[in-house]
Amino acid sequence: MTITWHKLTCRLGVLHPTLFRVMEMPMETTPQAELEVRNLRFATDDRVPRHWHGGRRSVTTFFDNLSLFFPAGERFFIDAVKAHKHLVTDERLLKDVAIFCAQEGIHGREHIRYNAMLDEQGYPAVELDRKVQRILAFVRRTLPRRTRLSVTCSLEHFTALMAEYILRDPRLLDGAHPVMRSLWRWHAAEESEHRAVAYDVYRAARGPYAERAVTMLVTTAIFWTLVVQHQARMMKVDGTAWSPSEWRGLFVYLFIEPGGMLGLWRRWLDYFKPSFHPWDHDSRDLLERWKAEYAETGAGAEKAVRA
Ligand SMILES: [Fe+2]
Ligand SMILES: [Fe+2]
Repeated sequence: MTITWHKLTCRLGVLHPTLFRVMEMPMETTPQAELEVRNLRFATDDRVPRHWHGGRRSVTTFFDNLSLFFPAGERFFIDAVKAHKHLVTDERLLKDVAIFCAQEGIHGREHIRYNAMLDEQGYPAVELDRKVQRILAFVRRTLPRRTRLSVTCSLEHFTALMAEYILRDPRLLDGAHPVMRSLWRWHAAEESEHRAVAYDVYRAARGPYAERAVTMLVTTAIFWTLVVQHQARMMKVDGTAWSPSEWRGLFVYLFIEPGGMLGLWRRWLDYFKPSFHPWDHDSRDLLERWKAEYAETGAGAEKAVRA
């Protein structure tokens, strides 16, 4: 199946060089961030209030909802990237692949603990995590290996956009419990830091433009359908699934005040430029700001996360 798909895209490349060409931007021309493994453990336990985002129920649920995708998602990303490691010749990228896998492994571990807290709180975390696992198992069974890497690139683009969204505007986590604020900002920083690793491996695997563009369209539709379904399911537990004020509150938070979500769609669209590279969205200033905060409040943050 993989060989057939590969041959097909190569043949189509001869017919339509723009759509099916592989991306040939040299690795050295792209800006880079220094990747680092930070093995943090967060005190996601019964000391975290149920509605930890300043008592805002639907907003807390939105973050909790995203957390449910991570354990299975991060495993999928690691496997997809590792499966193409043998095609990487660039020493720096090989090193970054190792750090990427370590970072995603730690993210997965911390979101398992986070989701266990949600389960304790009575949310259907186990059920929804299993649902994500089933979907990804189906993707593993049915899609060729390189397309699974392409799915990973799409989802890594989403996580990088969300990361930028969280890091750019501190108001987004105003009022949040310190443990949860630290956790989300740490995950956002590392997603931003390794934003290009899966994509560069896809380039090393000579993945064509059309494959990543089509994959992005399908992945976007499936991912956001699941996010909306999960949001309603989680809000049902709180008895707010039919509450117009809760939905309005979430809408205002995401799109108006502090807002910012709408601006992400333009950056999502950038992915469809044939010459796109994740570091076209250069977020190193945000990373530096987070690192300075992390270095300055390191002990405090450790206390908060290790409590
Ligand atoms: Fe992650
Ligand atoms: Fe990631």
